Amino acid sequence: MTTVVREPAEFRRACDDARRASRRIGLVPTMGALHAGHLSLIDEASRRADFLAVTIFVNPLQFAPGEDLQRYPKTLEDDLGGCRRRGVDVVFAPDTGAMYPEGFQTQVSVAGVTKPLEGVFRPSHFEGVTTVVAKLFNLAGPCAAVFGRKDYQQWKVLSRMVEDLDMPIEVIGCPIVREPDGLALSSRNRYLSTNDRHRALAVVAGLRAAHDAWEHGERKPAVLESAAAAPVAATFDRIDYVAAVDPETFEPPATSPERLLIAAAAHLGSTRLIDNVVLGEDERP
Ligand code: PAJ
Repeated sequence: MTTVVREPAEFRRACDDARRASRRIGLVPTMGALHAGHLSLIDEASRRADFLAVTIFVNPLQFAPGEDLQRYPKTLEDDLGGCRRRGVDVVFAPDTGAMYPEGFQTQVSVAGVTKPLEGVFRPSHFEGVTTVVAKLFNLAGPCAAVFGRKDYQQWKVLSRMVEDLDMPIEVIGCPIVREPDGLALSSRNRYLSTNDRHRALAVVAGLRAAHDAWEHGERKPAVLESAAAAPVAATFDRIDYVAAVDPETFEPPATSPERLLIAAAAHLGSTRLIDNVVLGEDERP
C-alpha cells in the first residue's frame, strides 16, 4: 500500500519506522509529472532497497524568475497511480509552505562543480537543488538515493555535497531513458509542438555523431564537440552550450581523454532541453 504524506514530520516518521523495522530505504526525489525515466529510478531503488520513498515537490528555489515554474506540469493523481503500480511505500508530496515556512533562511551551496555548464546559464539553480535535496536527505535519513544521469551535473553536484558534508547517503546515478527515436524523456517534452518535437531530435543527432566519431577512434575533444554541436546549431533556436568536458570536473578535458562528457543545453521556442552522453562509457544514444 502506498501512503501519501504532506508534512515533513510525517515523512520523517515513515522513514524512521521503516528503518526500525530493519528495512533499507530507497529514495527517489522528483518534481512529479512522472514518466518512464522516473520510473526507471524507482525500479533501481527497489533493486537496492526494500522500502521505497518517492518525493514529489516542484521546488521554487531552483527556478530563476522567468523560468518555467508557473507552467511546470502538475499531474499528482497520475503520479500516485504510477507509484502505486510500482509498489512505492511512501510518497512525500509537501506544499511549498511546508518545505519553506516563513522565516526560512538557509541555503546549501556547492562551489566548483556547480560553476560550469548549467551554472553559467542558471546561476542560482544548483543552490536551490542542493538546499531542497539536503532537506529531503535529512528527513529520510540514511538511504540509497537514486538520480538520473539525464541531469548529469546535478548527479555530480549532489554526490559532492554528500561526500563533503558526510551525509549517510549512498548516491546512485542511473542511465538516461530515451524514446524509441532517441529523445531523452523529460517532463518538459510535453511543452513541445509536433514540429518542435521533431526538431528536438537534432540534439540526439549531435550526440550520436560524436559517439560515432569516438567509436571510429577520434579522440580530439574539439573535433568531437564540433560534431555534436553542428546539428544543434542548425536546428535549435538558441544554444546555451554544447561542450566536451572532463566527466568528473567539467573542466577542459585531457588532449586524448579516456572518457569525455558531451553535454548540451539548447532552446526550442520557450522550451529548454538538456541531454548528454559520456563517450568511452555510455551506449550510443
Ligand atoms: P526531476 O526533473 O523531476 O527529475 C527527477 C529525477 O529523474 C532526476 O534524478 C532526473 O535526472 C531523473 N530523470 C529525468 N528524466 C530522466 C530520464 N529520461 N532518464 C533517467 N532519469 C531521468 O531533477 C529534479 O527533478 C530535481 O532537480 C530534484 C532532484 C527532484 C530536486 O528538486
